[in-house]
Amino acid sequence: MAHGGTPLPMIARRSDALSGTTRVPGDKSISHRSLIFGSLAVGRTEVSGLLEAEDVLNTMAAMRALGATITHHDGPGGRVSIDGVGVGALTEPDCVLDMGNSGTAARLLVGLVATHPFNSFFTGDASLVKRPMARVTDPLSEMGCAFLTRAGEMGAGRLPMMVQGTDTPVPIRYRLPVASAQVKSAILLAGLNTPGETTVIEDVPTRDHTENMLAHFGVPPRIETLEDGATAITVTGQQRLKAADIIVPTDPSSAAFPLVAALIRPGSDVTIEAVGMNDRRTGVILTLQEMGGDITIMNERVEAGEPVADIRVKGSVLEGIEVPAERAASMIDEYPVLFAAAACAKGTTYMPGLHELRVKESDRLATMARGLVACGVDLTETEDTLTIRGSGEPPRGGATVETVLDHRIAMSFLVLGQATAEPITIDDARPIATSFPIFTKLMEKLGCQLVRSPV
Ligand code: S3P
Repeated sequence: MAHGGTPLPMIARRSDALSGTTRVPGDKSISHRSLIFGSLAVGRTEVSGLLEAEDVLNTMAAMRALGATITHHDGPGGRVSIDGVGVGALTEPDCVLDMGNSGTAARLLVGLVATHPFNSFFTGDASLVKRPMARVTDPLSEMGCAFLTRAGEMGAGRLPMMVQGTDTPVPIRYRLPVASAQVKSAILLAGLNTPGETTVIEDVPTRDHTENMLAHFGVPPRIETLEDGATAITVTGQQRLKAADIIVPTDPSSAAFPLVAALIRPGSDVTIEAVGMNDRRTGVILTLQEMGGDITIMNERVEAGEPVADIRVKGSVLEGIEVPAERAASMIDEYPVLFAAAACAKGTTYMPGLHELRVKESDRLATMARGLVACGVDLTETEDTLTIRGSGEPPRGGATVETVLDHRIAMSFLVLGQATAEPITIDDARPIATSFPIFTKLMEKLGCQLVRSPV
């Protein structure tokens, strides 16, 4: 999000039953990658359905600064034409690359420039400069790249950062110490301009949009299951990527907000069309179904190579469950709104394996727990678990919640406020533009009660 400016508080009030049919915007992960891969391909890539949100627009600006020609067409449909420069042919940017709020943009682009022989400078907003970058600079240093990072109060390896790309990159075989598609993707992108084979090993499957995109652009990675069950993903460097048009599917992470809002309002009946159903992203749907959510997956089909489906959701009586830790990677961005659902459920919802939530746009475990307690929710937070004890009735609400530059915290509390006895106010709705600029309009159309608060 842009630095400074005036906060925009917003109030969520209890709504009647929600109804209608809706479609959420394009997938954020795939939108970033469309711009990156289109810029690396030879020829013109036409993209439609691109998410036109702040995070993705920052990636677009950065790819232009690195030499790609990108035309963003007026009008609806998220249409973009990209004339790529070819692998290894990016040029030194003459400005600082400001990645705003986006960890994905920062980490993927640092990987991309690491194996180009020029210097570049990265920064971000007040949230991004606190987030750990050593998870990408460590493996990229092994490939020969050098970094100068800030030693922030949370420890070394923070933005702003100088990247001194290498012209003699060395391929690596690297086992991910954290389950992170961003780190996996950063290394694979660095490997694209590295001679030989670069391999990333992941113990836990994380979203595979980078692998899918490589295949779509004609250089499928080699994917092997190792004896210990881990997956090795290998790219052979210095190949030619062929331009390939992309239709970006809609974002299951955004769909989770109307989904939960409908579940927690009795009598609701909402259909969300053409939701991206990549199985590395749909953990929250399974979890909400296990909690008793009346969710029907309809018209499953493949659109432009990605599985999509329409999701019909009805107001439901939810029950607490234990959410397996192994599922965390497939729903990592959906925990904040799942916490809102758990707060309305009857019984205990126990969610282990949440340590990665502490290094998202905010410490999502602490930020959500603080806001939920202020709304009267009974919970226990540990270093990597959250236990929410629900009475079966929505919590009291009646609090003003700090969203600390985190779009998903903002949207989660606006969803919870549709059910609470007293309204919930968020201190600033502006971060929502990071990933879901039409959130308020879309939710209001379904019957949500959202009002801009006069400060
Ligand atoms: C993303 C990966 C996830 C997710 C983020 C988008 C991506 O982060 O939280 O919103 O597009 O690769 P990690 O891979 O670091 O868990």
